[in-house]
Amino acid sequence: MDHNATTPPLPEVVEAVCEALRTAYGNPSSGHRQGEPARRLLRRARERLQGYLGTPDEQFIFTGSGTEANNLALRSLARHGSCIITNAIEHSSILSCATRLQDEGLPTKVITATSEGEVDLCVLRQQLLAHRHAAVSIQWINNETGVIQPIREITALAREHGALLHIDAAQAIGKIDTNVIGDLDPDFLSLTAHKFNGPAGVGALYARQTALIDPLCIGGGQQDGWHAGTENTAGIAGMQRALELRYNKHHEAIAHMAELRDIFEKTVLDRCSWVRINGNRDKRVCNTSNLCFEGIDGQALVGRLDTLGIYCSQSSACTTGRPEPSHVLRAMGLSEAQAYASVRFSFGVTNTHQEAELAATIVAAEAEHLKRIFA
Ligand SMILES: Cc1ncc(COP(=O)(O)O)c(C=O)c1O
Repeated sequence: MDHNATTPPLPEVVEAVCEALRTAYGNPSSGHRQGEPARRLLRRARERLQGYLGTPDEQFIFTGSGTEANNLALRSLARHGSCIITNAIEHSSILSCATRLQDEGLPTKVITATSEGEVDLCVLRQQLLAHRHAAVSIQWINNETGVIQPIREITALAREHGALLHIDAAQAIGKIDTNVIGDLDPDFLSLTAHKFNGPAGVGALYARQTALIDPLCIGGGQQDGWHAGTENTAGIAGMQRALELRYNKHHEAIAHMAELRDIFEKTVLDRCSWVRINGNRDKRVCNTSNLCFEGIDGQALVGRLDTLGIYCSQSSACTTGRPEPSHVLRAMGLSEAQAYASVRFSFGVTNTHQEAELAATIVAAEAEHLKRIFA
């Protein structure tokens, strides 16, 4: 129940990776025929990404992670925008990169979020008015609360004010209807395969105009020079297969995850009426439940659940090593104690009804137990 951290690669994905290692191991940059299967694989993967995501063209730059795609996007925006505008609840790959850019002298504005976990559109408008030709970087779905950001409004505001736009879609792909991407027409959009049952260590950045890219990696001329380094063809094959599997059953997958999340949440809330949902409950992605168990230590709950075989987390997987309260929940106005008392549960297509029901019963019992101890 920690699928926002990562998801298990499906058997068909594992097979696609193995198949690529067997048959397309050649270097796609080789002029000879051994490189042809790998070149074909990359061409097909770009076509499929375009087909499934509905982007206007096939300009996908393959990267080694969502983090790398985000860094590439932000560095490129920094080259062309007068100021980077981002949001306090972004993933650390955006916030840390924005801090670095600011240290390097680029004006950066980190705008506030509402208590419901959404980008504050009024503040965004003010910042866009104050900074002509800025560049906006906003996530589509928050990885901790699952709150879906008002992406159409954000896009419209960015366009109205002549700003460039990057969307971090790492948590959106495969979990919501993404066929609006064509209409949104962002300058950049990042994704990462391991959030939709693909392999870890492979992602992509869609770029509307590759001329805007400021390469992070330079060296050989791979990917037209926009991202040097021999491509991870096996990982890319796995990402393509995972995307295919998800989009062939997109609506069923979304409905399944929503059902599990709702069963789980209802049972926990029925049994523990003192537990609250973090973030706007009506604007959340299908699979995420971030709950505040006020009065108890969330880390203790996560630890006890771990020993019982239920895996969940307190904030994003990249930051769980640090004993700090979630920056997302703090930005939404939760106290330090409330942030420490909060736990994220996130479901995936491989979870079952039985698991959701059993987990809910155990979570409720453990939470009640800890509540008595902490009282
Ligand atoms: C919203 C968001 N952006 C970016 C990333 C980074 O992706 P990766 O783990 O592939 O580096 C994540 C991963 O948790 C995420 O949730």
